[in-house]
Amino acid sequence: MTTDVNKTITPDSGNPRHIAIIMDGNGRWAQRRMMPRVMGHRAGVKTVRKVVEYCAEQKIEVLSLFAFSSENWRRPKGEVNTLMELFMATLQSEVDKLDENDIRLRIIGEKTAFSDKLQAKIADAEAQTRDNKGLTLVIAANYGGRWDITQAFRQITAKIAAGELQADDLTEELIGQHLSTADLPEPDLFIRSGGEQRVSNFLLWQLAYTEFYFTPALWPDFDQALLADAIDSFKRRQRRFGHTGEQVIKKS
Ligand code: IPE
Ligand code: IPE
Ligand code: MG
Repeated sequence: MTTDVNKTITPDSGNPRHIAIIMDGNGRWAQRRMMPRVMGHRAGVKTVRKVVEYCAEQKIEVLSLFAFSSENWRRPKGEVNTLMELFMATLQSEVDKLDENDIRLRIIGEKTAFSDKLQAKIADAEAQTRDNKGLTLVIAANYGGRWDITQAFRQITAKIAAGELQADDLTEELIGQHLSTADLPEPDLFIRSGGEQRVSNFLLWQLAYTEFYFTPALWPDFDQALLADAIDSFKRRQRRFGHTGEQVIKKS
């Protein structure tokens, strides 16, 4: 028996419960304007604000944004430093506004790679917004899907070694419960801006039955209308989860 991946209940609005976005194209946006790449990242923060606002208004439950991948350390040092500074500054300037709007902030990824100062800021921001009941905003920073699965296995094997779990207890569900998204519904809609059509080590396990949407728009040019287009496209799709189309029609 496989786990029933069809456990997601689509709200009456037909909206996705969880939207996951790879925010790509900042560098090219800047380069096309003869500006340094980092200007594209600054412009990208403005898009983040608009997208968060729209998802909160539309009563989306979870919005996950890929901000920095475990592979992005390979970029030039200056760009990595600017991205870290931007992350810290944005966290600092936005957290009160998120809190006022009942948004719960979660950072997923290997946080130990960040400076102590940034780790403390992250912990404070998460604590400040923990009890909020509106949109859950997940920021993936120093995140990799393979890292997530590996850290889940490390937790599980430690529990087996300690005698808290038996090897036979290992199921798909148990693995899911040890991922960094354990308490969240799986993404219904995955969006990637910037024209590339790849997953780039984002939520590998969690995307098993997600609907994919790619747009050539560069992230700083992405806006609420383009997000609405992606959601409309999602609403027109038939999610079958292995069933036949006829079975799905009969059930609804
Ligand atoms: C995405 O934009 C932002 C991060 C990876 C941090 P890019 O910086 O990858 O932009 P392009 O793909 O080079 O245009
Ligand atoms: C993926 O974008 C990571 C983020 C958006 C944070 P990249 O631009 O780093 O992906 P690749 O390297 O082109 O696959
Ligand atoms: Mg890119």
